[in-house]
Amino acid sequence: MKGWMGKIKALSLLGFLALILSGCGKENLTALVPKGYGAEVSMDLIILTTVVMLVVFAVVMAIFIFVLIRFRKKKGQEDFIPKQVEGNHTLETVWTVIPILLLIIIAIPTVLATFDLADETEASDSINIDVTGYQFWWHFDYQGEDFQTSQDIYIPVGEKVYFNMLSSDVIHYFWVPSLSGKLDVNPENENTFYIEAYEEGVYWGKCAEFCGPSHSLMDFKVIVVSKEEYEQWVADMKNVDPDEEPESAVAVEGKELFQENNCMGCHAIGSSPVQTGPNLTNFGNRETLAGVEDLDKDTLVKWLLDPEEIKPGNKMTDNYPALNKEDAEKIAEYLLQLKHTDITSESAEN
Ligand code: CUA
Repeated sequence: MKGWMGKIKALSLLGFLALILSGCGKENLTALVPKGYGAEVSMDLIILTTVVMLVVFAVVMAIFIFVLIRFRKKKGQEDFIPKQVEGNHTLETVWTVIPILLLIIIAIPTVLATFDLADETEASDSINIDVTGYQFWWHFDYQGEDFQTSQDIYIPVGEKVYFNMLSSDVIHYFWVPSLSGKLDVNPENENTFYIEAYEEGVYWGKCAEFCGPSHSLMDFKVIVVSKEEYEQWVADMKNVDPDEEPESAVAVEGKELFQENNCMGCHAIGSSPVQTGPNLTNFGNRETLAGVEDLDKDTLVKWLLDPEEIKPGNKMTDNYPALNKEDAEKIAEYLLQLKHTDITSESAEN
């Protein structure tokens, strides 16, 4: 009875831990609930390899337990030596051939999936987005559309969207766990893969290669909307007027400070080749600041006063004139009203 109680306690503790730990992840940031083609293919491979491993584990444990019981030392047989079977050709053939077969079972679908996910035959007829990885943010250039953005990518649901990736500095790693497999972002050779999302929604992306002190903060988002919403978003993004005058007086002052402090030297608003820092078009519609913090005025002011505190090792720290709190608040006011379209992450979630 006592033994059973112990087991029940241990099981409840495990269940409780699993429940708590499952709360640690963000929604749409798991490869285990695939919502896109690449992620689904990867999940099938995860299931296949797990089944193979479990079968191997079960067989090895069964033989192990059988041998433990069957050949244990018995009373009166202390000096007994069982029949020695080393060099047995049949046995050695069996335990060489079985792993080879298992590897073939895993290798064939893996290689097929690798070629399938790297297939570029439809790229020229599809949406192509040039991705550049920077320490520690992402630049996106929609080919043929003449506009750029950063951190948030909008794509239409149910369509193959091709990503052509390069890094401007070190090796990064582009990964949207719920939607796709992952791919290296190298400084030299361009890597291409596609994402095909099954459902509208907001999906978290991660850099999956250690790239410096803020590697774990190099998040981005893929916002999957309907085809009509996507087309509207593209039209709005192409129509951005960077010189547009803000409505509130404080934001107008903020805009002047933004120009006086030469923030545009690094941050473009609207279509521009400048990409020393993230393009800020549509910045006010983003949910996150620097990829990781909830975007609100207080956090933005904190960022403008000391970005190092939020994202260690970033290239903005000490590369602009020191701001006082009042000026930082005005600039924040200006940046937060940069809303260039009605298509937002809420469009994806409704
Ligand atoms: Cu970029 Cu890790």
